Amino acid sequence: MDERTPLISTVSVTRPRPGYHHSTFRRFCTIALGSTLIAVVICFLIPIAVLPRDHDSPSSYLPWSRPFPRSWPHTSGISVEELREILSTTPDEDNARSWSEYYTAGPHLAGKNLSQAVWTRDKWEEFGVKADIVAYDIYINYPISHRLALLKEGQLKYECSLEEDVIQDDPTTSLKDRVPTFHGYSASGNVTAPYVFVNYGTYQDFEDLQAANITLKGKIALAKYGAIFRGLKVKRAQELGMVGVVMYSDPQDDGEVTEENGYKPYPEGPARNPSSVQRGSTQFLSTLPGDPTTPGYPSKPGVPRVDPHGSTPQIPSLPISYGDALPLLKALNGHGPNATSFGKHWQGGGLAYKGVEYNIGPSPDSVVLNLVNEQDYVTTPLWNVIGIVNGTIPDEVIVLGNHRDAWIAGGAGDPNSGSAALNEVIRSIGKALEAGWKPLRTIVFASWDGEEYGLIGSTEWVEEYLPWLSAHAVAYLNVDVGARGKHFEAAASPILNKLIYNVTGAVPSPNQTTEGQSVGDIWDGRIRTMGSGSDFTAFQDFAGIPSLDLGFGSGPDDAVYHYHSNYDSFHWMDNYGDKGWQYHVAVAKVWALLAAQLAETPILSLSAGDYAKGLSEYLDDVKDRAKEYSAMSGFSFRELDSATTKFRKSAAHFDEYTAKLGQRLAKRVPWWQWWKKVKLFYEVRKANQKYKVLERQFLFPGGLDSRPWFKHVVFAPGRWTGYAGATYPGLVESFEDRNMTNAERWEHIIRERLGSATELLK
Ligand SMILES: *[C@@H]1O[C@H](CO)[C@@H](O)[C@H](O)[C@H]1NC(C)=O
Ligand SMILES: *[C@@H]1O[C@H](CO)[C@@H](O)[C@H](O)[C@H]1NC(C)=O
Ligand SMILES: *[C@@H]1O[C@H](CO)[C@@H](O)[C@H](O)[C@H]1NC(C)=O
Ligand SMILES: *[C@@H]1O[C@H](CO)[C@@H](O)[C@H](O)[C@H]1NC(C)=O
Ligand SMILES: *[C@@H]1O[C@H](CO)[C@@H](O)[C@H](O)[C@H]1NC(C)=O
Ligand SMILES: *[C@@H]1O[C@H](CO)[C@@H](O)[C@H](O)[C@H]1NC(C)=O
Ligand SMILES: *[C@@H]1O[C@H](CO)[C@@H](O)[C@H](O)[C@H]1NC(C)=O
Ligand SMILES: *[C@@H]1O[C@H](CO)[C@@H](O)[C@H](O)[C@H]1NC(C)=O
Ligand SMILES: [Zn+2]
Repeated sequence: MDERTPLISTVSVTRPRPGYHHSTFRRFCTIALGSTLIAVVICFLIPIAVLPRDHDSPSSYLPWSRPFPRSWPHTSGISVEELREILSTTPDEDNARSWSEYYTAGPHLAGKNLSQAVWTRDKWEEFGVKADIVAYDIYINYPISHRLALLKEGQLKYECSLEEDVIQDDPTTSLKDRVPTFHGYSASGNVTAPYVFVNYGTYQDFEDLQAANITLKGKIALAKYGAIFRGLKVKRAQELGMVGVVMYSDPQDDGEVTEENGYKPYPEGPARNPSSVQRGSTQFLSTLPGDPTTPGYPSKPGVPRVDPHGSTPQIPSLPISYGDALPLLKALNGHGPNATSFGKHWQGGGLAYKGVEYNIGPSPDSVVLNLVNEQDYVTTPLWNVIGIVNGTIPDEVIVLGNHRDAWIAGGAGDPNSGSAALNEVIRSIGKALEAGWKPLRTIVFASWDGEEYGLIGSTEWVEEYLPWLSAHAVAYLNVDVGARGKHFEAAASPILNKLIYNVTGAVPSPNQTTEGQSVGDIWDGRIRTMGSGSDFTAFQDFAGIPSLDLGFGSGPDDAVYHYHSNYDSFHWMDNYGDKGWQYHVAVAKVWALLAAQLAETPILSLSAGDYAKGLSEYLDDVKDRAKEYSAMSGFSFRELDSATTKFRKSAAHFDEYTAKLGQRLAKRVPWWQWWKKVKLFYEVRKANQKYKVLERQFLFPGGLDSRPWFKHVVFAPGRWTGYAGATYPGLVESFEDRNMTNAERWEHIIRERLGSATELLK
């Protein structure tokens, strides 16, 4: 998945904290802990005597409640400079191209291609990283047959092809076993009914239609793709009594690069091929990701299963191309109001030049669609590949992940540009290990299966390892689409902002207009808030693990990306998406350096101050939202403001304190004052434990209203957007529902979480 959506929130560039004094830290470890037996004995005794006990804080971060790293004294084997050098010179274009060629050679729908999991595991082992396959038994659908026909007075007017054209030059498009066009988790059905053009099928679009008294009940919705996650279009249509949904990709959303503007369609040019179809999941992503029959627990064989329809549709849906949509749209000409005059969100579409007037309908009773969708529902295994490099500190873990499954045989952009990059990251890490590197912290690599249907592989894994992850995980670094254009994009928990700015500032951009420009120099610096739409969701929103998601997306000057279509192929990537494969390499470097910086700096590269700053901005957003609802005019933000200010202060103090710790680490301490070093070691360890669990303080065990799987009080996918992030969702949704009691309840919950985070950092 991972369709990029418009920016929701931006954070301005700030300078990173002063340096981490790495080698000195190691030296101190060696001197203080390695040299004498006495020192080691005292290591166990001194801290209990010297350090104050902190009764109010979770014991999980207290240093003495943790086992000692087994192999102290820690030595990295190589210097940080050497490590950076290896990670930023190993990834190369030829390898990236060859991994991409492998992954895109055949179909790899969720649960359908064990050989790709085996191949991936074997590659990682070959690179020097121990890896295993972790399987789950998941409930899933595979397509059997489909039909979409336009009928007038019982006569066939148009039979949709529901097929993407075969292209001579692009072998992926003619594979015998290519994947049909269909929707993940769509309901089987055979419906015949008049239809209505519902614009993007957003919640607001449906509100506008109802306000205009357009009959929806019993009709089929014809919706443009875009704006929100596709499953939520089906969800709302179903709630309003519609009987089916058809979605198409309108060239209006391709920006400048359209046939209307004179660009040739793929394969001759960069515009959208008119027969391209966007497959995709229609799960209700903002209600529950993962296997819909095992909410909150892992889908192991034999576990109890619930009815999936709380988070999957009960009405059928089909995706179509704009070529197939044209006759359907034209048949609505003259019926009902025209979309252009309808409401502020309604702008017609990009097919007016083809004779479409974008009338809303409904079509007359004599003009109907026959929509047939036949799906095979099974419970079947899928396979994650998990690799691990053990660090010296046993309870601080960095996780890197990308999904491997695709809707099509290709998937050169989504997700296998990320898979190719991940292989290059692991190959680079393998080289560093070969050179003698012993990471300070543990690094886990994941190649997820089943992301496309609903983040299944990652969600089930997080659900299974939740206790371990809660105790160990420092951050999750996701790359879904690694490269499909030239424009760097990132979304993250603000605690990671500084790290992202730092690392992107160190990787050369493949597109330097002047010598020496970095990825960061060319990037606009915007970091989006975390929504959903990729595998970070369970980490961020369910487990409270700071996450990020990044890659090179498409900008206005890039070729149109054929999202979830046969044309997201190796041939397209090689000719349009990333011709020289440099963007694959650049994303691998950024990813590897992010992991290395998190794994190696003695003091974790996280910023409590940026998190607090993010929270202030989110609260300002919420205040703006509150103004939209007059019923909420009595709501007071006074106490939330004050709790946020307190948190900002304690976060700023904490960052200052850890910066000083860094300076102290850098100072030479004579060996006979080894106890100073021991004390310092404990302070560093305690500070890191606090950074590690800071994001966890924002989890509310009860979860969000009517979607209790989502535990984070700050981040969730919007109820009715899916991809885009909503901040302080509990509060904002209470405003939307004009429920003052509930708004006050959420105000209290959020204040408590802020209080707990403030206490933690004291
Ligand atoms: C990144 O951080 C390191 C260590 O603090 C610092 O030396 C370096 O200058 C920073 N780089 C950028 C581009 O900000
Ligand atoms: C699995 O993927 C490989 C490599 O892309 C491909 O060659 C093979 O045909 C696929 N297998 C199946 C069963 O689809
Ligand atoms: C769908 O239903 C119609 C009438 O109810 C029937 O004539 C047609 O054969 C059905 N189509 C399929 C593919 O089952
Ligand atoms: C919709 O119907 C209601 C009730 O019949 C009526 O009051 C209202 O004016 C109608 N709205 C429009 C836009 O026609
Ligand atoms: C749409 O309707 C409005 C008002 O009814 C009209 O002014 C406009 O010309 C129509 N546009 C098209 C493209 O038919
Ligand atoms: C990593 O450490 C764990 C726990 O100590 C151990 O079970 C595992 O075998 C180690 N893995 C590797 C690859 O060394
Ligand atoms: C660099 O950017 C320019 C303008 O966006 C573009 O024309 C050119 O193809 C890009 N070059 C590379 C190597 O990405
Ligand atoms: C408002 O929220 C409360 C829970 O805080 C709930 O009990 C109540 O039913 C809600 N009221 C409405 C009108 O939905
Ligand atoms: Zn994806």
